[in-house]
Amino acid sequence: MAEEYDLVVLGGGTGGYVAAIRASKLGLKTAIVESRELGGTCLHRGCIPSKALLRSAEVYRQTKEADTYGVVAENTSLNFPKVQERKQSIVDTLHKGVQGLMKKGKIDVYEGFGRILGPSIFSPTAGTISVEMNNGEENEMLIPKNVLIATGSSPKLLPGMEADGTFVMTSDEALNMEELPESILIIGGGVIGIEWASMLADFGVKVTVLEYLPQILPTEDEEVFKEILKQMKKKGVQVVTSAKVLPESLQTSEGVSIEAEVNESTETFKAERMLVSVGRAANVKNIGLENTSIEVDKGVIQTNKFYQTKESHIYAIGDVIGGMQLAHVASHEGITAVEHMADQHPHPINYEHVPSCIYSNPEAASVGLTEQQAKEQGFEVKTGKFSFQAIGKALVFGETDGFVKIVADKKTDDLLGVHMVGPHVTDMISEAGLAKVLDATPWEIAESIHPHPTLAEAIGEAAMAVDGNQIHG
Ligand code: NAI
Repeated sequence: MAEEYDLVVLGGGTGGYVAAIRASKLGLKTAIVESRELGGTCLHRGCIPSKALLRSAEVYRQTKEADTYGVVAENTSLNFPKVQERKQSIVDTLHKGVQGLMKKGKIDVYEGFGRILGPSIFSPTAGTISVEMNNGEENEMLIPKNVLIATGSSPKLLPGMEADGTFVMTSDEALNMEELPESILIIGGGVIGIEWASMLADFGVKVTVLEYLPQILPTEDEEVFKEILKQMKKKGVQVVTSAKVLPESLQTSEGVSIEAEVNESTETFKAERMLVSVGRAANVKNIGLENTSIEVDKGVIQTNKFYQTKESHIYAIGDVIGGMQLAHVASHEGITAVEHMADQHPHPINYEHVPSCIYSNPEAASVGLTEQQAKEQGFEVKTGKFSFQAIGKALVFGETDGFVKIVADKKTDDLLGVHMVGPHVTDMISEAGLAKVLDATPWEIAESIHPHPTLAEAIGEAAMAVDGNQIHG
């Protein structure tokens, strides 16, 4: 039987389910089609489980350093199955929460794989959704006025490689490791690679990162990636940059061995396991795009600034459209798309206002242009930088590595970017995000009084430092 809807969302991840809630609040009769679990990658194979493991790694590291705080914690050891249990219970709690939100919003959830059909007896335009149900029952037909594609992305592997879950893993398999290896090779020094390097080193695993480019975290400000590199080396992580990994040389038996060209010589790298974190590919296959006039370029769906595809009633958001592959970006795009289809006249997203975070130890967070990007775009730049070493609360915390850096336009005083490395900066970056949205100048950031003693004082001081007016440095 065919069911009619105002909106059918393909994919119940952070982008899709948030969009569905907004749609239901706007009075749209809404359904979600999800082939796995509501909450998607972020909740089940990304942000949440990885941060739960990172938190255990942090507690383990800090417990080993307890003596510094005058606390005696002898014979510290790790119970990794319990670490995994804790992670799973956090995921399960949040999963139930999302299921509850769907019920509350009267959003129908179809557990199955959805495909977009072309014009048919059901509708003269493309967009009818055929759902192959997980329970094996007959396909459901959904006839929506609007469709939102929010099918996300999957980890990429190198040519010829397969994730066997034992020797070769992507972040999907790594999250479910039952025990920690003694050593690991991480291919790719981007966000996932560095978060895992930091976590596993804190757990006591011998980590080697092989990065293709001359630097890790290539999208970050130069001072940020240099500081993170320094901190990773301090933890004992071996970072090899400009490493051209040769996938065909991979050998897996009683461990992993792979060759890479580094500085014109070929080196062999060995470890117990390997994690491949070389980016994520948009999930565009098998969802029926060939039945529509939707354009796909470089593997991602093309949309306008309100996320409409070439079929104006079919929208797409999140990782499947590329750009910033971040959960908070996907949900904001989802809200914008739904408000647009409901004639609410939303503002298009300004991606220079989007904060991004790296949950390594120390953390990194940023919003807006890096100093290098600002210069490339022709800005005459002035910067202010303030170290956590001069921040009382950082000393109290015992975490003084890192800094806040503010990039501003010398001519207009406009705030161009804010970059941070250090304790809790992923929580502190929101102030910088708000400052960007409100178009604040560094002077205005400093005018907002930062309470003492807090880590956020580093933001006020960095803002003052833009014009040389910092107090404690
Ligand atoms: P990424 O694009 O951040 O980094 C991939 C890295 O692998 C790059 O540095 C690239 O130069 C390197 N690389 C590519 N091919 C290589 C090769 N053959 N050999 C060696 N190195 C190679 O991708 P990543 O880390 O896999 O993350 C995927 C997406 O997920 C990103 O968009 C990221 O922003 C997002 N994500 C965000 C998180 C957060 O917000 N904290 C956490 C985890 C992922």
